[in-house]
Amino acid sequence: YVLCISVLVLIACSGGEDTSIVEQGFTRAEQQLSNQLKAVPEATEYPRTIGKDGKLKVTRKNDWTEGFYPGCLWYVYEYTNKEDWKKAAIKWTESLEPLKKMTNHHDIGFLMYCSFGNAYRLTGNEAYKDVLVESARSLCTRFNEKTGCIKSWNYRKSWNGKDEWFYPVIIDNMMNLELLYFATKVTGDSVYAKVANRHAETTAKNQFREDYSNYHVVNYDAETGEVLNQATCQGFSDNSAWARGQAWAIYGYTVVYRETLDPRYLDFVQKVADVYLERLPEDYIPYWDFDDPSIPNAPRDASAASVTASALLELSTYLPDKKGDEYKNAAIRMLTSLSSDKYQCGKSKPAFLLHSTGHLPNNSEIDAAIIYADYYYIEALIRLKNLIEDKAVI
Ligand code: GLY
Repeated sequence: YVLCISVLVLIACSGGEDTSIVEQGFTRAEQQLSNQLKAVPEATEYPRTIGKDGKLKVTRKNDWTEGFYPGCLWYVYEYTNKEDWKKAAIKWTESLEPLKKMTNHHDIGFLMYCSFGNAYRLTGNEAYKDVLVESARSLCTRFNEKTGCIKSWNYRKSWNGKDEWFYPVIIDNMMNLELLYFATKVTGDSVYAKVANRHAETTAKNQFREDYSNYHVVNYDAETGEVLNQATCQGFSDNSAWARGQAWAIYGYTVVYRETLDPRYLDFVQKVADVYLERLPEDYIPYWDFDDPSIPNAPRDASAASVTASALLELSTYLPDKKGDEYKNAAIRMLTSLSSDKYQCGKSKPAFLLHSTGHLPNNSEIDAAIIYADYYYIEALIRLKNLIEDKAVI
C-alpha cells in the first residue's frame, strides 16, 4: 500500500508523466471509431456530431469538417500500427481529393492537411504530396496583397444582419497556414510561406485586442486594405473572447513560430496563451465564450480544450524550463479532464468527447460531441506520448 502511494506521489511530482490517459484514450478511440465505421460504411459520408436523438450525423464533402475523420483514423493507425485502420484512413482520405480545387472558402487547410497531411506524413506517398500542393495553390487564390491576408468567406451579411462583410477574415484561418508552410518545404517555392507569413503578421496586427484576446471576424476593404470593422460570428458578442477563437490562435501562432523561428511570434503566442489560461475554470475546460454572462451555467467547449492542449504540448518544447513546464502541465490537466467520465462519451456512442459548442448564436451543436474535438484530443494524446518518450512531439 505504502509502495503504491509512493509511486502515485512520484508520478504526480514528475509532472504527471503517466501514460494511462494515452492508453485509455486510444482504447476508447478504437472502440468508437469501430462504431462509426459500422454506422457509416462508405466514404461519401463523414461523421460530424451526435444528434439529440443519439444518432450519428454526417456531412457529405460540403462542409469544413470532413478532414477530421480520416485524421482520427490516421492517428489511431499511427498509435496501433494496425493495417485495418490504415485501409479505412486511406479510403476516407482519398475520397476528399476533388476538394483540392476548392477556392470558394478558406477551410481547405482543415479539410486537406488533417487528412492528406497525416496520410503523407505516415505513408510518404508522393501522390498525397501533390494533392497538398495543389490545395495550397487553391488557398493562395484567396490572398490579396492589399489586405495582406487570406479571405476566409466570400461576401456575406454579418451575423446580426446589420453589417456587410466584404472581405471577412476569421481567426480560424490561422489553422490553414500549416498547409502553406508544408507546400513551400516540399516544393522549394517560397510563395506559399510568404503568403502564410504575411497573413500571420496582418492578423497579429488587426485581429487582437490589447489583452491579446481576439476578434472572431475582421472585415477588410479589399481595395484599400483598411480594416472596416471587428466583430464576431460565433462568439457571444463583438467584444467577447470566444474560446475556440482563442484556441485557434494559440495553435496557429505556435505553428507560425515553428516554421519561422521568429522570436516575436514566440513572445506573441505566449501572451495569447496566457490570457486563455488565466480565464479557465477549475477543470481547465473553457466555457464556450469567456464573456458569456451566464457563466457558470453557460455550456463548455471541449473542442477548444482539445485544440489548446495539443498546441501547448508543442509550444512547451520551444520554451525554457519554467514556462515550458507550465504549458505542459496545463495541457496534461486539460487532457486529464477530457479523459474523465464527465467528458467522455462512453462505450456505446460513436464519438470520443462530449460537451463541445459548435455555433451557439446559430443554436447549433451546443453541448455536443463534435468531430474536431475528437481529432485534436487524439492528436494531443499522441503528442503527450511522444513527449513522455522523449521523441519529437510532431
Ligand atoms: N472553423 C469554424 C469553427 O471553429 O467553428
